[in-house]
Amino acid sequence: MGDSNSKIPVSSVFDPVSTPAHEINVIALFSIGITAVIFVIVGGLLTYAIVRFRRHPDDDDREPPQVYGSNPIEFAWTTVPVLIVLVLFLTTARTIYQVQAPTRPPDAISVRVIAHQWWWEFRYPDLGIVTANELHVPLSDRQSPTPTFLALESADVAHSFWVPRLAGKTDVIPNRKNEMWIDPHVAGTYLGQCAEYCGTEHGLMLLRVIVEPRADFDRWVAAQKQPPAVDASVAHGRQIFESTACVNCHTIQGTAAVGRFGPDLTHLMTRVTIGAGVAMNTRDHLRVWVDDPNVMKPGALMPAMNLGDKDLDDLVAYLATLH
Ligand code: CUA
Repeated sequence: MGDSNSKIPVSSVFDPVSTPAHEINVIALFSIGITAVIFVIVGGLLTYAIVRFRRHPDDDDREPPQVYGSNPIEFAWTTVPVLIVLVLFLTTARTIYQVQAPTRPPDAISVRVIAHQWWWEFRYPDLGIVTANELHVPLSDRQSPTPTFLALESADVAHSFWVPRLAGKTDVIPNRKNEMWIDPHVAGTYLGQCAEYCGTEHGLMLLRVIVEPRADFDRWVAAQKQPPAVDASVAHGRQIFESTACVNCHTIQGTAAVGRFGPDLTHLMTRVTIGAGVAMNTRDHLRVWVDDPNVMKPGALMPAMNLGDKDLDDLVAYLATLH
């Protein structure tokens, strides 16, 4: 299962492709730069003093000259740190303002992000789309900026939404709506994860953001709006799905399943991974998952379905038609 991320570069906060992440990177490098200069000066003076004034065999035991009440020295070592703190405060305040108070263009994409133990629900209220764990957003270039604004909610405990190359962490808190935005200007897949301990599978609450040119995004939207094709050859699998506990937690458009506790499965097979990034979405993995999710993700809240081999095969065959 470790192959799932092999083709995607490691997510680094020092490699931003979106304005909020870029602003944060600039302020981080600026702060690191100032503190590095302080470190070199203080460390250098300390090393010099240790070496230059170390004990010699021919020292007498008298105290060196003591310096008290020098106004210029005390003024300098009060003023300089105050100025440094002031500069750091002002630049940080400016960055916070830039990240938190953007102007919202009328054609911005809106997404409701709902964090669950241990997966992400994405709802596009203006587009009528619901998906999970893999967020699709359009490329936002300088000519036609189309940022995506995320409204973050939690269905249970506190989580934190973090895609290092796109934006800083934003807490996702029950009974509260936090907001953030991204405007990625390089197409690609960006990995993210929950950044606030939220229970057993916090570490496997992964997410992907798929940034694609507007035409590809519009094609994805159109496909997600379609009901899944009805395939008579998997009717038995569909019947198993509709007659077991699956329907209590999952939604599949056009069926009796309208549960909201687990991910919407209407277009399950358009997603690259299952179990919030725990494995690639192949038929074999899907079979292992449905048989007993705890094998892949110990502590997962989805119960083992305890189906016989034949029923399990038929159910997975049905799920595999959900494009
Ligand atoms: Cu959700 Cu940690």
